[in-house]
Amino acid sequence: MIDETYAAIFAAVPIATAMAHGRVNLIGEHIDYNGGIVLPTTIANATHVAVGPSDDGSHAIYSAQYGEAVRRSLDTPFNGHWSDYIAGALVKGAENKLIETPMRVVVDSNVPGGAGLSSSASVTVAVLKALAEHAGQHVADVDIARWAQQVEHEFIGVPCGIMDQMAVAIASEKQALALETDTLAHTLITLPDGHHFAVLHSGITRKLDEGRYAERRQECEAAAAALGADWLCQLNEAQVAAIERLPEVQRKRARHAHSEHRRVLAAIGALCAGDMAAFGAQMDASHASMRDDFEITTPEIDAIAGGAREHGAIGARMTGGGFGGCIVACVPVDRLKDWKASMARQFPATRYIA
Ligand code: GLA
Repeated sequence: MIDETYAAIFAAVPIATAMAHGRVNLIGEHIDYNGGIVLPTTIANATHVAVGPSDDGSHAIYSAQYGEAVRRSLDTPFNGHWSDYIAGALVKGAENKLIETPMRVVVDSNVPGGAGLSSSASVTVAVLKALAEHAGQHVADVDIARWAQQVEHEFIGVPCGIMDQMAVAIASEKQALALETDTLAHTLITLPDGHHFAVLHSGITRKLDEGRYAERRQECEAAAAALGADWLCQLNEAQVAAIERLPEVQRKRARHAHSEHRRVLAAIGALCAGDMAAFGAQMDASHASMRDDFEITTPEIDAIAGGAREHGAIGARMTGGGFGGCIVACVPVDRLKDWKASMARQFPATRYIA
């Protein structure tokens, strides 16, 4: 399919194709830059990419979503254009010797943007994988993820952690990725058959480069510095006790990061033991912490997460960077159909994603 789009746009056959899914984080929010463990999985929605050589001296980039082709050289300034993610991945591809000459790139994605489902990581990882394939080089997923994260830091201006890039580079739909974000050590954990992690878009979109993400990260770093710690998720007993003496904003951010990390550990234990009720309880507590201590939910999202539980989910929480986007709810498979119908009735602005 992506081959056909490439052929239609460039009247040529692509040399390589690749794909990367979107991701949903099951638990462990805003702790991938605090040295914590996170637990994302992928969703069916994905980005497909086809690449081949360009013959006119500049990179040619086409997006099926924008229905537009642009030409860029790698020193074109990054100014918020949709093609920045792809151009950034091309820069990283060039820096890491995957490409030497200009490329044609076609991108087609059904991962919703601004929804907390890592549409951008999905694009950058898929482009980098396609460039590696084109070069005939085996590049480790961890390297692809690191380069994709550098695109966000250097060209997009989002000081994100590495959860999204690792998740879309490595995880698969039936498995969660337990990722230590300080060492990048990771394990895949099989998800249970009897429960579905339903992803529901609130209808509210947001952009992480609006500054609130960066603000939260700075607040966490300030709190860690005040506690004399490297990471908020790795405090000793005395540092944990000292959280309560921090100024209010730092206190709340530190409380969230510290408690969220403990919730992830408990959730992983519950998942491995097959105790989904306990897993759901950690999801609920995670949402409360994002609402009260990290202050990244909205009243609409709180209502949707609450409704999700009332209609039969055993746990529900906002997922992703926050301030809008999606909730993820753990729903017993035999209740899923009714749950979806009830949610659609009570929250008509929501959209079932996966
Ligand atoms: C965004 C970032 C991630 C992570 C989440 C919050 O998705 O890209 O690195 O910090 O927000 O958990």
